Amino acid sequence: MSSLRQSKYLYRSPVIVKVIPFPSLLICTLIANINNLKNRMSVPKTALIFGATGQTGRVLLRELLASSEFTKVGEYGRNVTPKSDIAVGKDKLEQKVINFDKLDEAGLQEGCWDVVYITLGTTKKNAGSAEAFEKIDRDYVISAAKAARVPNQEQRLVYLSSAGANASSSFLYMRSKGQTEIGLAKLGYSDTIIFRPAMLLGAKREESRVAESIFATITGALTRVSDSIGIQIPVLAKAISRAGILGSSGLPANAKASTVNQDAAAFTLISNDGALALGATADK
Ligand SMILES: *[C@@H]1O[C@H](CO)[C@@H](O)[C@H](O)[C@H]1NC(C)=O
Repeated sequence: MSSLRQSKYLYRSPVIVKVIPFPSLLICTLIANINNLKNRMSVPKTALIFGATGQTGRVLLRELLASSEFTKVGEYGRNVTPKSDIAVGKDKLEQKVINFDKLDEAGLQEGCWDVVYITLGTTKKNAGSAEAFEKIDRDYVISAAKAARVPNQEQRLVYLSSAGANASSSFLYMRSKGQTEIGLAKLGYSDTIIFRPAMLLGAKREESRVAESIFATITGALTRVSDSIGIQIPVLAKAISRAGILGSSGLPANAKASTVNQDAAAFTLISNDGALALGATADK
Protein backbone atom coordinates (compact mmCIF):
# COMPACT_ATOMS: atom_id res chain seq x y z
CA MET A 1 0.00 0.00 0.00
CA SER A 2 2.81 2.39 0.86
CA SER A 3 4.47 1.69 -2.48
CA LEU A 4 1.26 2.71 -4.24
CA ARG A 5 1.28 6.00 -2.44
CA GLN A 6 4.87 6.62 -3.46
CA SER A 7 4.10 6.09 -7.11
CA LYS A 8 3.41 9.63 -8.27
CA TYR A 9 3.80 11.57 -11.43
CA LEU A 10 6.14 14.41 -10.69
CA TYR A 11 5.70 16.35 -13.92
CA ARG A 12 2.75 16.36 -16.26
CA SER A 13 4.68 17.48 -19.32
CA PRO A 14 6.67 17.38 -21.43
CA VAL A 15 8.20 14.24 -19.97
CA ILE A 16 6.32 12.06 -17.56
CA VAL A 17 8.65 11.02 -14.79
CA LYS A 18 7.32 8.18 -12.76
CA VAL A 19 8.91 7.57 -9.40
CA ILE A 20 9.65 3.91 -9.19
CA PRO A 21 7.73 2.42 -6.30
CA PHE A 22 10.44 1.22 -3.95
CA PRO A 23 9.71 -1.82 -1.91
CA SER A 24 9.23 -0.49 1.60
CA LEU A 25 12.08 -2.67 2.80
CA LEU A 26 14.54 -0.92 0.50
CA ILE A 27 13.33 2.43 1.76
CA CYS A 28 13.89 1.51 5.36
CA THR A 29 17.34 0.18 4.53
CA LEU A 30 18.12 3.51 2.88
CA ILE A 31 16.87 5.40 5.91
CA ALA A 32 18.90 3.10 8.15
CA ASN A 33 22.02 3.91 6.12
CA ILE A 34 21.40 7.65 6.38
CA ASN A 35 20.87 7.26 10.10
CA ASN A 36 24.09 5.29 10.37
CA LEU A 37 25.92 8.12 8.65
CA LYS A 38 24.46 10.55 11.14
CA ASN A 39 25.48 8.15 13.88
CA ARG A 40 22.21 8.50 15.76
CA MET A 41 20.93 4.96 15.70
CA SER A 42 21.18 4.74 19.45
CA VAL A 43 17.83 6.54 19.58
CA PRO A 44 15.14 4.03 18.67
CA LYS A 45 11.85 5.42 17.43
CA THR A 46 9.72 2.42 16.59
CA ALA A 47 8.89 -0.67 18.61
CA LEU A 48 7.23 -3.94 17.74
CA ILE A 49 5.78 -6.18 20.42
CA PHE A 50 4.87 -9.85 20.26
CA GLY A 51 2.87 -11.18 23.18
CA ALA A 52 1.11 -7.93 24.07
CA THR A 53 -1.97 -9.69 25.41
CA GLY A 54 0.00 -11.68 27.99
CA GLN A 55 0.30 -10.70 31.63
CA THR A 56 3.54 -8.73 31.22
CA GLY A 57 2.99 -7.83 27.57
CA ARG A 58 -0.25 -5.99 28.23
CA VAL A 59 1.49 -3.70 30.72
CA LEU A 60 4.52 -3.31 28.44
CA LEU A 61 2.32 -2.34 25.49
CA ARG A 62 0.79 0.51 27.51
CA GLU A 63 4.24 1.52 28.73
CA LEU A 64 5.51 1.76 25.13
CA LEU A 65 2.44 3.67 23.97
CA ALA A 66 2.83 6.16 26.82
CA SER A 67 6.55 6.63 26.18
CA SER A 68 7.54 9.77 24.32
CA GLU A 69 10.51 7.82 22.95
CA PHE A 70 8.42 5.86 20.47
CA THR A 71 6.59 7.40 17.55
CA LYS A 72 5.17 4.09 16.34
CA VAL A 73 4.32 0.92 18.22
CA GLY A 74 3.37 -2.29 16.44
CA GLU A 75 1.32 -4.95 18.15
CA TYR A 76 1.36 -8.11 16.07
CA GLY A 77 -0.19 -11.30 17.30
CA ARG A 78 -2.74 -14.05 17.01
CA ASN A 79 -5.04 -11.67 18.86
CA VAL A 80 -4.62 -7.95 19.36
CA THR A 81 -5.75 -5.66 22.14
CA PRO A 82 -9.19 -4.07 21.65
CA LYS A 83 -8.60 -0.38 20.87
CA SER A 84 -11.23 0.49 23.49
CA ASP A 85 -8.90 -0.97 26.15
CA ILE A 86 -6.14 1.49 25.29
CA ALA A 87 -6.22 4.88 26.98
CA VAL A 88 -2.96 6.54 25.89
CA GLY A 89 -1.11 6.54 22.57
CA LYS A 90 -3.80 4.94 20.43
CA ASP A 91 -2.76 7.09 17.46
CA LYS A 92 0.70 5.54 17.27
CA LEU A 93 -0.49 1.97 17.65
CA GLU A 94 -0.35 -0.23 14.56
CA GLN A 95 -2.05 -3.57 15.07
CA LYS A 96 -1.95 -6.64 12.90
CA VAL A 97 -3.39 -10.10 13.36
CA ILE A 98 -0.84 -12.63 12.18
CA ASN A 99 -0.62 -16.36 11.75
CA PHE A 100 2.54 -17.67 13.42
CA ASP A 101 2.51 -20.67 11.09
CA LYS A 102 2.72 -18.34 8.10
CA LEU A 103 5.15 -15.69 9.28
CA ASP A 104 6.61 -15.18 5.81
CA GLU A 105 3.24 -13.70 4.84
CA ALA A 106 3.03 -11.41 7.86
CA GLY A 107 5.24 -8.61 6.53
CA LEU A 108 7.23 -8.37 9.73
CA GLN A 109 10.28 -6.81 8.10
CA GLU A 110 8.32 -4.00 6.51
CA GLY A 111 8.13 -1.85 9.62
CA CYS A 112 11.94 -1.93 9.97
CA TRP A 113 11.30 -1.89 13.70
CA ASP A 114 14.10 -0.38 15.79
CA VAL A 115 13.25 -2.46 18.84
CA VAL A 116 11.51 -5.84 18.83
CA TYR A 117 10.06 -6.73 22.22
CA ILE A 118 9.00 -10.31 22.86
CA THR A 119 6.87 -11.16 25.87
CA LEU A 120 5.30 -14.11 24.12
CA GLY A 121 5.26 -17.39 25.97
CA THR A 122 2.94 -19.97 27.37
CA THR A 123 2.72 -22.85 29.79
CA LYS A 124 2.32 -26.53 29.13
CA LYS A 125 -1.09 -26.41 30.75
CA ASN A 126 -2.31 -23.62 28.49
CA ALA A 127 -0.68 -25.08 25.39
CA GLY A 128 -2.18 -28.52 26.01
CA SER A 129 0.90 -30.67 25.44
CA ALA A 130 4.68 -30.52 25.62
CA GLU A 131 4.89 -30.32 21.82
CA ALA A 132 2.37 -27.49 21.58
CA PHE A 133 4.13 -25.72 24.42
CA GLU A 134 7.54 -25.81 22.70
CA LYS A 135 6.02 -24.75 19.41
CA ILE A 136 4.57 -21.57 20.92
CA ASP A 137 7.06 -20.85 23.69
CA ARG A 138 10.21 -21.50 21.64
CA ASP A 139 9.56 -21.92 17.90
CA TYR A 140 7.06 -19.09 17.41
CA VAL A 141 9.24 -16.73 19.42
CA ILE A 142 12.42 -17.47 17.45
CA SER A 143 10.60 -17.50 14.09
CA ALA A 144 8.88 -14.18 14.77
CA ALA A 145 12.14 -12.51 15.79
CA LYS A 146 13.81 -13.93 12.70
CA ALA A 147 11.03 -12.69 10.44
CA ALA A 148 11.25 -9.16 11.89
CA ARG A 149 15.01 -8.95 11.41
CA VAL A 150 16.08 -6.66 8.58
CA PRO A 151 19.63 -7.55 7.49
CA ASN A 152 22.23 -4.81 7.99
CA GLN A 153 19.87 -2.62 9.96
CA GLU A 154 20.50 -1.61 13.56
CA GLN A 155 17.81 -3.43 15.49
CA ARG A 156 17.50 -4.34 19.12
CA LEU A 157 15.80 -7.43 20.49
CA VAL A 158 14.44 -7.62 24.03
CA TYR A 159 13.07 -10.93 25.28
CA LEU A 160 11.27 -11.83 28.48
CA SER A 161 12.67 -15.16 29.66
CA SER A 162 12.59 -16.59 33.16
CA ALA A 163 14.88 -17.11 36.12
CA GLY A 164 16.30 -20.60 35.86
CA ALA A 165 16.28 -20.65 32.05
CA ASN A 166 18.70 -23.37 31.01
CA ALA A 167 18.91 -25.02 27.61
CA SER A 168 20.15 -28.24 29.24
CA SER A 169 17.55 -28.38 31.97
CA SER A 170 15.44 -31.48 32.36
CA PHE A 171 12.48 -29.22 33.14
CA LEU A 172 10.52 -28.45 29.98
CA TYR A 173 9.74 -24.84 30.91
CA MET A 174 13.33 -23.90 31.78
CA ARG A 175 14.73 -25.80 28.80
CA SER A 176 12.38 -24.03 26.39
CA LYS A 177 13.33 -20.62 27.78
CA GLY A 178 17.05 -21.49 27.64
CA GLN A 179 16.85 -22.80 24.08
CA THR A 180 14.84 -19.78 23.03
CA GLU A 181 17.44 -17.41 24.49
CA ILE A 182 20.21 -19.06 22.47
CA GLY A 183 18.09 -19.22 19.32
CA LEU A 184 17.32 -15.52 19.59
CA ALA A 185 20.92 -14.54 20.26
CA LYS A 186 21.96 -16.26 17.03
CA LEU A 187 19.66 -14.19 14.81
CA GLY A 188 22.16 -11.40 14.26
CA TYR A 189 20.37 -8.53 15.98
CA SER A 190 22.73 -5.66 16.74
CA ASP A 191 21.82 -5.95 20.41
CA THR A 192 20.00 -8.73 22.26
CA ILE A 193 18.81 -8.16 25.82
CA ILE A 194 17.21 -10.92 27.86
CA PHE A 195 15.34 -10.60 31.15
CA ARG A 196 15.23 -13.44 33.63
CA PRO A 197 12.82 -12.29 36.31
CA ALA A 198 11.85 -14.54 39.20
CA MET A 199 8.23 -14.72 40.32
CA LEU A 200 5.89 -12.36 38.54
CA LEU A 201 3.83 -10.54 41.13
CA GLY A 202 0.61 -8.60 40.74
CA ALA A 203 -0.72 -10.50 37.74
CA LYS A 204 -4.29 -9.73 36.76
CA ARG A 205 -5.11 -13.35 36.43
CA GLU A 206 -3.43 -16.22 38.17
CA GLU A 207 -1.24 -17.90 35.60
CA SER A 208 0.44 -21.19 36.06
CA ARG A 209 3.67 -19.48 34.95
CA VAL A 210 3.74 -18.21 38.53
CA ALA A 211 3.24 -21.71 39.83
CA GLU A 212 6.05 -22.90 37.60
CA SER A 213 8.27 -20.14 38.91
CA ILE A 214 7.52 -21.15 42.47
CA PHE A 215 8.35 -24.67 41.50
CA ALA A 216 11.59 -23.47 39.95
CA THR A 217 12.37 -21.61 43.14
CA ILE A 218 11.92 -24.59 45.40
CA THR A 219 13.85 -26.86 43.06
CA GLY A 220 16.78 -24.52 43.35
CA ALA A 221 16.68 -23.11 39.85
CA LEU A 222 17.09 -19.70 41.39
CA THR A 223 20.76 -20.06 42.05
CA ARG A 224 21.48 -16.50 43.04
CA VAL A 225 20.42 -16.15 46.63
CA SER A 226 20.86 -12.39 46.41
CA ASP A 227 17.99 -12.21 43.92
CA SER A 228 14.73 -11.12 45.41
CA ILE A 229 11.90 -13.58 45.26
CA GLY A 230 9.99 -11.76 42.56
CA ILE A 231 9.08 -8.59 40.74
CA GLN A 232 5.88 -6.62 40.32
CA ILE A 233 4.75 -6.80 36.70
CA PRO A 234 4.54 -2.99 36.23
CA VAL A 235 8.14 -2.67 37.45
CA LEU A 236 9.24 -5.43 35.10
CA ALA A 237 7.40 -3.84 32.16
CA LYS A 238 9.10 -0.52 32.85
CA ALA A 239 12.49 -2.21 33.02
CA ILE A 240 11.90 -4.03 29.73
CA SER A 241 10.75 -0.83 28.04
CA ARG A 242 13.79 1.08 29.28
CA ALA A 243 16.23 -1.63 28.23
CA GLY A 244 14.87 -1.41 24.69
CA ILE A 245 15.29 2.35 24.65
CA LEU A 246 18.73 2.46 26.27
CA GLY A 247 20.31 -0.62 24.72
CA SER A 248 23.01 -2.76 26.32
CA SER A 249 25.62 -0.01 26.15
CA GLY A 250 23.30 2.57 27.73
CA LEU A 251 22.12 0.55 30.71
CA PRO A 252 22.80 2.05 34.14
CA ALA A 253 25.13 0.17 36.49
CA ASN A 254 22.26 -0.80 38.79
CA ALA A 255 20.76 -2.93 36.00
CA LYS A 256 23.69 -5.26 36.78
CA ALA A 257 23.76 -6.41 33.19
CA SER A 258 26.11 -9.22 32.32
CA THR A 259 27.12 -10.72 29.01
CA VAL A 260 26.32 -14.36 28.39
CA ASN A 261 28.26 -16.27 25.77
CA GLN A 262 26.80 -19.65 25.02
CA ASP A 263 26.91 -21.86 21.93
CA ALA A 264 28.49 -19.05 19.90
CA ALA A 265 25.61 -16.78 20.85
CA ALA A 266 26.02 -13.68 22.98
CA PHE A 267 23.40 -11.63 24.76
CA THR A 268 23.00 -9.16 27.58
CA LEU A 269 21.37 -10.68 30.65
CA ILE A 270 19.34 -8.80 33.23
CA SER A 271 18.31 -10.80 36.27
CA ASN A 272 15.55 -10.16 38.77
CA ASP A 273 17.71 -7.79 40.84
CA GLY A 274 18.71 -5.74 37.83
CA ALA A 275 15.15 -5.54 36.56
CA LEU A 276 13.97 -4.34 39.98
CA ALA A 277 16.47 -1.47 39.89
CA LEU A 278 15.98 -0.63 36.22
CA GLY A 279 12.21 -0.64 36.54
CA ALA A 280 12.21 1.50 39.65
CA THR A 281 14.15 4.34 38.05
CA ALA A 282 11.86 7.25 37.42
CA ASP A 283 13.09 8.63 34.08
CA LYS A 284 12.22 7.12 30.68
C1 LIG B 1 21.73 -26.35 33.41
O1 LIG B 1 21.17 -27.62 33.62
C2 LIG B 1 22.12 -28.66 33.60
C3 LIG B 1 21.36 -29.97 33.67
O2 LIG B 1 20.53 -29.99 34.80
C4 LIG B 1 23.11 -28.46 34.74
O3 LIG B 1 24.09 -29.46 34.70
C5 LIG B 1 23.76 -27.10 34.60
O4 LIG B 1 24.58 -26.85 35.71
C6 LIG B 1 22.71 -26.01 34.49
N1 LIG B 1 23.37 -24.74 34.21
C7 LIG B 1 23.22 -23.69 35.00
C8 LIG B 1 23.94 -22.46 34.57
O5 LIG B 1 22.55 -23.70 36.01
